[in-house]
Amino acid sequence: MSADGDKRAAAEAAVLEVRAGMMVGLGTGSTAAHMIRALGRIVAGGLAIDAVATSEASATLARELGIRVHDFAGVARVDLTIDGADEIDDRLLVVKGAGGAMLREKCVAAASDRMVVIADGAKRVGAIGAARVPVEVLPFAHGFVARMLTERSDPLLRMAGGEPYRTDQQMLVVDCAFHDLSDPQGTAAWLQAIPGVLGHGLFLSEVDAAYLATDGVVTKLERPADPD
Ligand code: 5RP
Repeated sequence: MSADGDKRAAAEAAVLEVRAGMMVGLGTGSTAAHMIRALGRIVAGGLAIDAVATSEASATLARELGIRVHDFAGVARVDLTIDGADEIDDRLLVVKGAGGAMLREKCVAAASDRMVVIADGAKRVGAIGAARVPVEVLPFAHGFVARMLTERSDPLLRMAGGEPYRTDQQMLVVDCAFHDLSDPQGTAAWLQAIPGVLGHGLFLSEVDAAYLATDGVVTKLERPADPD
């Protein structure tokens, strides 16, 4: 099966977690788009849900499919978020943000009682760290932030159509190849402490489960229950 077929298989498995009355967080990217289309079919079949979206693109797609999408600014809690991933390991540590939506994705994930990621099996890795980690940067502070990022990474300003890429909130993205990502929590804390860094694509505690499909076979990874 193609990678796109596997993305769709993972997405269709994950939407089975959606129940009537839920506030659902809609991720961003090609795998999330499969999930939104699957959800649209379920909603057309009569399931009543509400949703918030992690990007303008996902909001537009969902509304076209008849899904009720709310402004996240007015929503305090989300029941279940389903989103894509760029790299995921068996500890459920995830790198996100190739689609540039990681800041909104992090906000919606943090507001969610449960977050699941969906991906084709090629995204599964022994340990995160090969993919560049996207960092969202305030344009005002770009020069300073870029200098700081060179201390621990090879930073690359993301471009689109010959211009610096802009996120939905008109910020810049710097994709960082870290020299060493053996301590992702330490790296995340270091990034978050740089003034002008608004967010990053390291999702280290948000993800509860993953649906990963290879050749049409979906594997589910679930975070072990907290003993407390
Ligand atoms: C967007 C993301 C995406 O979910 C991630 O890049 C995966 O995208 P795709 O499903 O297209 O491979 O984090 O910010």
